[in-house]
Amino acid sequence: MSKEKLETTLIRAGRAKRFTQGSVNSVIQRASSLVFDTVADKQRATAGRAHGELFYGRRGTLTHFALQEAMTELEGGAGCALYSCGAAAVANAMLAFVEAGDHVLMCGSVYEPTQDFCTKILSKLNVSTTFFDHCLDGGIAALIQPTTRIVFLESPASITMEVQDIPAIVAAVRAKAPEAIIIVDNTWAAGVLFRPLDHGCDISIQAGTKYLIGHSDAMIGTAVANARCWDRLRENSYLMGQMVDADTAYMASRGLRTLAVRLQQHEESGIKIAEWLATRPEVARVNHPALAQCKGHAFWQRDFSGSSGLFSFILHQKLSPQQMADYLDHFQHFSMAYSWGGFESLILANQPDELAAIRPAGGIDFSGTLVRLHIGLEHVDDLIADLSAGFDRLTSV
Ligand SMILES: Cc1ncc(COP(=O)(O)O)c(C=O)c1O
Repeated sequence: MSKEKLETTLIRAGRAKRFTQGSVNSVIQRASSLVFDTVADKQRATAGRAHGELFYGRRGTLTHFALQEAMTELEGGAGCALYSCGAAAVANAMLAFVEAGDHVLMCGSVYEPTQDFCTKILSKLNVSTTFFDHCLDGGIAALIQPTTRIVFLESPASITMEVQDIPAIVAAVRAKAPEAIIIVDNTWAAGVLFRPLDHGCDISIQAGTKYLIGHSDAMIGTAVANARCWDRLRENSYLMGQMVDADTAYMASRGLRTLAVRLQQHEESGIKIAEWLATRPEVARVNHPALAQCKGHAFWQRDFSGSSGLFSFILHQKLSPQQMADYLDHFQHFSMAYSWGGFESLILANQPDELAAIRPAGGIDFSGTLVRLHIGLEHVDDLIADLSAGFDRLTSV
């Protein structure tokens, strides 16, 4: 039989009878207390509490187990820990593996709060961090120290979208520090367009808040670990009190069922708009991994099975505060919000100096205003018309 396709796995995964109990979707089992009928049942639950036996709410219920099983299968891991949001997944995945005196190597273009977690929280635990240039790739070997415990990546880069050569990074790290834990924030790929564990990484994190939930109305984080990291990640997260409520876990599972079609539309419209933007005289560069002009495009082509709806473009000019307001305040379909991954289109703009401040290594190589778009599920013609009117506002002032 041919290998099952992703679309089918997204429908099937995590829907075993134990989880659905006769319905199509997993049951929503809200519980703190899980009641044992006999002493023998209690002993069985205690012995199997880390392996899918119902034990106590913080270890999860059937609703959580369903999502965990699906995510573990989708990302090819040994297990999946759930968190109340993506930032909690990042923090707890790192905390599980460092101790005082350790060193973290972090790509300098990761999501800003991830950087801040290292500089503001891990630093207090005497864990140091070196940020490296996101275009360094195999050159990372020179930065590995005897104490390097974690290498943290996010590809494409946050906001500027450069794609990294993750296989080259993994090879360089494994050659010099085989014990180091390689963690990838895989949110842009929705956990399915890129599979970090297949490329030798240890943990794949997702802010499920984005594409898993997909409707901008709930927050969740997932961390899928390989066999060597799973026990430790699971037990540390448990001791840190990490879990998500059953209703949100259910919403993430439900999100999986439509993820493939949503991603296909995000991708199709996103590429169409990116290509249109590349023809506009106002635009200096489009940072969309599927476009040849995006840094690391060849790595995306080699390692990813598709693109999602988030990308950015750089204007030739740096907008004045007034131009910025004229441009951003009047879109019909693009709202301003600090998130992405939902059904709706979003827009944000960053000035080059703001971006330089969150690129602790490597800096930036442009001087115009950067605009980040999340392309939602509206009709692409309406989105292009909206963006076109935005350019008209820029030239009419
Ligand atoms: C790449 C990335 N990782 C992690 C997070 C954090 O996720 P959450 O907002 O669910 O904590 C975000 C949020 O924007 C993100 O963009």
